[in-house]
Amino acid sequence: MHSSNTQNPLVPGIVEVVKIIDETPDVKNFYVRCVDGGVPFNVMPGQLAMVSLVPVGEAMFSVSWQEENDHLEFAIKRVGLMTDELHRIEVGQKLGVRGPYGNGFPVEACKGKDMLFIGGGIGLAPLRSFIKYCFKHREDYGKITILYGSRTSADLCFKDELFDKWPKEKDTQVYVTIDNPEEGWDGHVGFVPAYLEELKPNPEGTIAVICGPPIMIKFCLQSLEKMGFNDEQVITTLEMRMKCGIGKCGRCNIGHEYICLDGPVFNLAQLKQLPPEW
Ligand code: FES
Repeated sequence: MHSSNTQNPLVPGIVEVVKIIDETPDVKNFYVRCVDGGVPFNVMPGQLAMVSLVPVGEAMFSVSWQEENDHLEFAIKRVGLMTDELHRIEVGQKLGVRGPYGNGFPVEACKGKDMLFIGGGIGLAPLRSFIKYCFKHREDYGKITILYGSRTSADLCFKDELFDKWPKEKDTQVYVTIDNPEEGWDGHVGFVPAYLEELKPNPEGTIAVICGPPIMIKFCLQSLEKMGFNDEQVITTLEMRMKCGIGKCGRCNIGHEYICLDGPVFNLAQLKQLPPEW
């Protein structure tokens, strides 16, 4: 146990940025480690953490991977003041992190299933934690299919894993697409939902996990339904709605429900219980 290993979501641990990878022109993957080594708390796939940068502020981000007791990774897209400042920091910068928040993906309930991961843009960040978890516990899961797309090839995150590492994993297929044709790109072109319809995954014994832009999610849900996936077989995360994470700020509600208290991961059957605002 490290001195800053609190496991109390209200007490920040102080971590140091030990590595920064430029994933795309506006996404960086930050590796952070406690100043005395290790991780500030353990995170399950799909959970989030509050990251603070003094004196700028704090914001909630999904943890894109926890490497054992070594470090946490946060893939962060530049979208505003806090993330602009985070994109300016360098290795050695101290940050506060507290967590974990949210229910995370149902890794236990998915054991024995074939897994279909569908991601768009920065939506691959939370999915990646579950994808890597499946690879780490490879015998517990069946066939793994990853379908990922972004606007342009430059916007594809985690390229070394997508093109090099993941396709080499046992019983794994990786499909990558970009929205429009591009010089030098000889891969698939077209939107993720259209590619999904082309691939026609078999719903039998399969769990689909989706994260990406709302419009992509909407059309993928329609396609999956057409293919015969039932509402319990489709999971998504509303992690972008997580702000305080503890039911205090009232910014995550859908109708009277607080996403942060029961989610942000839901299956489609649960989402259909919510008012149609998600
Ligand atoms: S995120 Fe603040 S109340 Fe849910």
